[in-house]
Amino acid sequence: MNIKLINKEVYEVSSDVTVVFLKKDELTECEYTDILQKAGFKAEQDTTCFLYEKGLLFCGVESKKSDDLRSACACAIKTLKTSNFTSAKMEVISKSTIGALVEGIVLGGYEFNEYKSEPKKSEFKEVLLTSNDIDFGNLESIFNEALVVAHATNFTRDIVNRAPQEINPQTLSHVAQKLAYENSLECNILQEDDLAKENMGAMLAVGRASVHGSTLIHLSYKPANPKKVVTLVGKGLTYDSGGLSLKAATSMVTMKMDKAGACAVLGIIKAVSELKLDIEVHAFIGAVENMVGGNAYKPDDILVSRSKTTIEIRNTDAEGRLVLADVLDYAQDKVKADYIFDFATLTGACMIALGQYTTGLMGHSHKLKHDIGRAGSDSGEMISSLPFNRHLKKLLKSEIADISNTASKPYGGAITAGLFLDKFIKDENKNKWMHFDIAGTAYTETPWDCNVYGATGAGVRLMSNYLKNL
Ligand code: BES
Ligand code: ZN
Ligand code: ZN
Repeated sequence: MNIKLINKEVYEVSSDVTVVFLKKDELTECEYTDILQKAGFKAEQDTTCFLYEKGLLFCGVESKKSDDLRSACACAIKTLKTSNFTSAKMEVISKSTIGALVEGIVLGGYEFNEYKSEPKKSEFKEVLLTSNDIDFGNLESIFNEALVVAHATNFTRDIVNRAPQEINPQTLSHVAQKLAYENSLECNILQEDDLAKENMGAMLAVGRASVHGSTLIHLSYKPANPKKVVTLVGKGLTYDSGGLSLKAATSMVTMKMDKAGACAVLGIIKAVSELKLDIEVHAFIGAVENMVGGNAYKPDDILVSRSKTTIEIRNTDAEGRLVLADVLDYAQDKVKADYIFDFATLTGACMIALGQYTTGLMGHSHKLKHDIGRAGSDSGEMISSLPFNRHLKKLLKSEIADISNTASKPYGGAITAGLFLDKFIKDENKNKWMHFDIAGTAYTETPWDCNVYGATGAGVRLMSNYLKNL
C-alpha cells in the first residue's frame, strides 16, 4: 500500500474516499448528522460508518490526540481494505499527530500472508495525507521518519511471524546478515565452537538438545561522530518448548514468538541506521532453540556462565535469562556503552502483573525509567515500571550454586527474572541498564490498537523514539 503526503487542502485532492474523524460532540454539527444517526453511528472510538455513495468514511474518535487517531486510522484502513475502492484521503490535523496517522495506516494495514495459498486480495492501493501547513518541509520530515519506524516495525513482525521450522538460530543469523548487507552494518556471528571458547556455559546448555546450532549475532551501526553508544540485547529463542520442564500443549502454541526480543533489536538497528541517527548502536542477539532430547540440559544441572557465576537449574523453561546472562556479559566486555537495553519475552508473570498491553520495565536508574516513560507516551507503546526490592532478590538464592534460575516463591516472577539478569550486570553498568519484558506485548491473537493478529513489533517504536531524542 502506498502512502503519500501532499501539500494541499483536503478538498483540492481527488480520491475515491474521504476519511473523516469525528468526536461524539461533533456528530450533531456535521452535514451528515441525520444519515449517520439513522445508521446508528454514535462516533464511538474504533467504530466506523461508511457512506459508500458519497465516498465518505466516518471514524469515531474519543479525542483527536495521537493514541485515539492511531487506533481509529487502523480501523479505517481495515474497512477500506475490504471495500472495492482504491484510494482514500485524510487531512493531517497537526504536526504532533501525523506520526500516529502513519502508524495507524502502515501498522493497522499490515498482513502476514506468507503461508496462505490464496491471500485475500484487496483493491485498496493508496492513502493520501493532505496538509497546507506553513511549515510543510518540517511536516514532511516527521512523516518520513514515522514511515521508516513503521516499516521497521513491520520488518520485525515479519520475522517473528515466520514459522519455527523456517526461523532457527542459523537462519535468524542469515536474516541479520542480509540486514547488515542492505544497511551497511558490521556483522559478526559466533557459532557454537566460538561460544565454547567464550565459556558461555549457560547459553550453550539451553541450545544443546536442538539440531540447530546456537548463534550469537553482533550487528553494529557506527556513524562517524556518535553522540552516544548504545548496546541492545535481544532474547532470540526461535522456539521455546520449555525443554525437559516441558510446556503444556496449549502454552507451547505461539512460542515461535520467543524470538521477538531479538527481532525487535533488529528492527531498532534498522530504523536507527535508516534515520541516520548520530548514535552508535550495537545489537547482540542470543539465538537458541529450547528443545528436549537425550542430551538436553536438566533440572538439577549446575551451569557455569561466562561470568563464572554458577547457576542451579530448577526449571529448564526459565531459559531466556540463561541465554541473556551470557550475552549480556559478552556485550559488556565487547562494548563500553552509555546505555544497555535488553528486550525479551521473558516471563508469563509480566503479563499477569501488567496485562497484555503493557511492557514491563526494570532497572536501577530512576532517570532512565523516567526518560523511557516519556518515549512510551510519545510513541504510543505502553510501558510500566516493575520495582526491584531486596526481599524478592533473596528468593533467587541457591543452596548449591551462586544463584538459582527460578525464584523459590511464585509471586513477582517478572521482577525475580529481572533480578536474575541484574546479577550479570557489572557494577559500573548498573545505572546504564534497563530490561524490557515484552512477553505480553510482542504477540497477540486478537487485534488491539494498531496491532493485528500475530507479532506486534513491540519495542521498535519505543526505542526509535527514545534514541531519536537522546
Ligand atoms: N518464553 C517464556 C515466557 C513467555 C510466556 C513469553 C508466555 C510469552 C508468553 C519463558 O521462557 C518462560 O517459559 N518463562 C517461565 C518462567 C518460569 C519457569 C519461572 C514462565 O513465565 O512461566
Ligand atoms: Zn521458557
Ligand atoms: Zn522463553
